[in-house]
Amino acid sequence: MKKTGELYAGKAKTVYTTDDPALLVLEFRNDTSAFDGEKMEQLERKGQVNNQFNAFIMKALQQAGIATHFVDQLSTNESLVRNLDMIPVECVVRNRAAGSLVRRLGIEEGKELVPAIFEFFLKNDALHDPMINDSHIATFGWASEQEVAAMKALTLQVNDVLTQLFADGGMVLVDYKLEFGRFNGDIVLGDEFSPDGCRLWDARTGEKMDKDRFRQNLGNVIESYEEVGRRIGIEFQS
Ligand code: TMP
Ligand code: ASP
Repeated sequence: MKKTGELYAGKAKTVYTTDDPALLVLEFRNDTSAFDGEKMEQLERKGQVNNQFNAFIMKALQQAGIATHFVDQLSTNESLVRNLDMIPVECVVRNRAAGSLVRRLGIEEGKELVPAIFEFFLKNDALHDPMINDSHIATFGWASEQEVAAMKALTLQVNDVLTQLFADGGMVLVDYKLEFGRFNGDIVLGDEFSPDGCRLWDARTGEKMDKDRFRQNLGNVIESYEEVGRRIGIEFQS
């Protein structure tokens, strides 16, 4: 397998084609963005930490029977993945109130949300990822009814697996965002799972250990990501 060219550069990852059209290489960069690209910085070790974090989580999800695009970790900051036809919506699950839910509905931060809340957002930075619902997805043809049902079911299945995994490491999985794509007619988890796309709080102190440290200028961003990783059993290589 050989990289053949750059397909797409996102805010934090670059996607490369390979000599196999069914496979892509994801390169995790040190670029860190927030507020839909308004705040941008380079954070040392971020690419390698998120690549290894994502590889660990994708393998855990695959072991739990959830289909993902992940094939293999290639280097400290690159992974081989299946080439999905990505669906342009973001699936968010919330176990505790935080972020845009607090701003939108005036709910107190930290409130336990039972049952967990599921939301769709349109993946569109220029429009600031607006919240959408099943009706928008159907009318604009972003995904079929069956695909919507599959994305919801898989996102909630991921919640069961990861809530337990982080709880075992003394952390609360507050919320997270997933993206899915199509592969041979199936809905498969794509993109990444890392502290860039979720919120994790220390279960005892409530300390924020995710990208909110970057958004809110709390410092020690990557050190916190590494601490989260260590608590769930990741041995980072550099
Ligand atoms: P929010 O509170 O900003 O709506 O985000 C909810 C969770 O989803 C939070 O963990 C961050 C994640 N998320 C992203 O990583 N990227 C996005 O574009 C969106 C909308 C959410
Ligand atoms: N992931 C988005 C961005 O990079 C939103 C955020 O994390 O605040 O800008």
